[in-house]
Amino acid sequence: MNIVLATRNKKKIEEIKRIVKDMPITIYTLNDFPDCPDVKEDGNTFEENAVKKAMAVSKYTKMPALADDSGLEVYALGGAPGVLSARYAGEGADDRRNFEKLLSEMKLISDEKRGARFACCIALSFPDGKVETFMGYAEGRIGREPRGSKGFGYDPVFYPIGHNKTFAEMTDEEKDALSHRGTALKKLYEYLKGRSS
Ligand code: IMP
Repeated sequence: MNIVLATRNKKKIEEIKRIVKDMPITIYTLNDFPDCPDVKEDGNTFEENAVKKAMAVSKYTKMPALADDSGLEVYALGGAPGVLSARYAGEGADDRRNFEKLLSEMKLISDEKRGARFACCIALSFPDGKVETFMGYAEGRIGREPRGSKGFGYDPVFYPIGHNKTFAEMTDEEKDALSHRGTALKKLYEYLKGRSS
């Protein structure tokens, strides 16, 4: 099977290539389709955005396409920043400005009410219109100050449940074993294994 990844993000491309390396699957990326139009991520849920991206790329390339969308949901903030995670502190804001805005919004929230989760939706869309989705979550809580320098995004302020280290203080392997993306990718792996065997 051929699959186009609806991304130009090197880290995501490597991650997906790693999980399908033993399967009869050839991975293409948007770098192989430079004229494929960009898709606006204007959905209200991670699933809506991932499905929209995968379907657009599958329609354009006439090949199965895989897209993902992810972000952080803080319960005390009604699920914010959610689908706006990448631009919480404004269009073009960097990771530091985004997590600093979050810490500031949560200043008055007590330790018991700082629960949050990362969510990731992976969508696999086929040229006949069929779409499969795979969700993954990582439950945890938001700290009061950033800790650690690894990872990206909100990693320095997110403590996965049962751990006293933030994602930004963990190795890639430690984070992958707990993360929302890791969990969604495992479900995708099982699905693809079932199809290719
Ligand atoms: P996207 O799915 O790559 O568009 O990511 C959306 C945004 O969610 C990122 O810019 C980060 O702010 C946040 N995010 C998603 N996954 C993670 C993660 O594993 N760690 C930290 N932040 C994340």
